[in-house]
Order: sequence, then structure tokens, then C-alpha cells
Amino acid sequence: MLKLHTIVASTRPGRAGLSIGTWFHGIASAHKDFQAELIDLKAVNLPFFDEPHHPRLRQYMHQHTKDWSATIDAADAVVFVMPEYNHGFTAPLKNAIDYLSHEWADKPVGFVSYGGVSAGTRAVQLLKPVTTAVGLVAAGEVNIPFYAQYRQDETFTPPESFNDAANLMLGRIAKVGATLKAQRQVLVAA
Ligand SMILES: Cc1cc2nc3c(=O)[nH]c(=O)nc-3n(C[C@H](O)[C@H](O)[C@H](O)COP(=O)(O)O)c2cc1C
Repeated sequence: MLKLHTIVASTRPGRAGLSIGTWFHGIASAHKDFQAELIDLKAVNLPFFDEPHHPRLRQYMHQHTKDWSATIDAADAVVFVMPEYNHGFTAPLKNAIDYLSHEWADKPVGFVSYGGVSAGTRAVQLLKPVTTAVGLVAAGEVNIPFYAQYRQDETFTPPESFNDAANLMLGRIAKVGATLKAQRQVLVAA
């Protein structure tokens, strides 16, 4: 079993992100290869990055950083559920990534993006160099255009094809994740 954290990257009141994250988390929870957890960046509530040292040193001063470090350390894989703001990724997501370094490394990352006609794809493409910089390994994406038509009363119910796309990505994350987990264990033992 791999521990998969689905991380909701939007924090504004009335956001769609939590309902889409909840949908994806439901699929991940039903997948045989994962122990799934839903992480909401609104609830994590990190301030703007306020550590004096580079995260590579892991000399964290603040309890919120130590807690966030423990949360991501526990994951074998992560999926970012992310909208596109002005053709880019959200500030809370970049902030949450910047807080840490080793905790992300050598783990697969999937992207669930949503928006209008662009389906959040521009934000995903801009985020990839960032996730690569911290050692995350891109393992697939699900892009949802015109997401609002599938959202009612805070519940997101897309057509079956999106469930299939999510499961396809999860299958790839499971394969890549198992390899990377084994490799991380070798590195720890060495
Ligand atoms: C600040 C801001 C910028 C936005 N920019 C884009 C954009 O560039 N492309 C797009 O497809 N939608 C854009 N939208 C619309 C979002 O896709 C839509 O509001 C979506 O619900 C945002 O995700 P959230 O509800 O989880 O915050 C923007 C929304 C906001 C609030």
C-alpha cells in the first residue's frame, strides 16, 4: 500500500477545489493500491514562508513547518487538485511547496486541474518545473474543462470518463510510486 495525499490547492471562500478534491479522494480511497488522505491547504493554513533557513537543511523553527514536514514525509505520492489563476498556479500551492525540500523528493506527483476551456492546463505546465526542482516525479494528469457543469451543491459529479481518467493516472502513480518507494528505502539503508 502506498500513502497518497490529495492536496487541495485553492483556499478562497466558495472554492470549487474542495468538492473536486473530495471527488478525486473518493476514487483514490477505492483504489486497491492506496491508503488515501485528503489534505486541504486552507485547513493547513500556512503563513507566507517564514523560515530563516533553506528547507534543504531541515532546521525548521516553526511548529507549522514541522507539522507540514511530517504530513508530507508520511506520503509516498501526492496529487495536487488545482485551478488556474491568471494562467498560473495558486499562491498557496507554491508557498506550501517552497516550505519543504527532501520531503517531496523521489515521490510521484499527479495533477488534477480544472477551469474553463483551458482546464487549468497552463497552471500545470507552469508548476512542473517547480515540482521537478523539489524532486517530485510527474506521473500523469487529469484536466477538467468547464468543471462548473458537473458541480452542484458542493458536490462534484463528472461523467464516467473523468473517473476513468483518474483511475488511469492512479494506476501510473502506483507503478511509479512503488519503484520510487523501494529506491528511497535503499537510499535510507545505505
Ligand atoms: C483570481 C482568479 C483568476 C482566474 N484565472 C483563470 C484563468 O486564468 N483560467 C481559467 O480557466 N479560469 C480562471 N479563473 C476561474 C477559475 O477557473 C474558477 O474561478 C475556479 O472556480 C477557481 O478554482 P477555485 O474555485 O477552487 O478557487 C480564475 C479565478 C480567479 C479567482
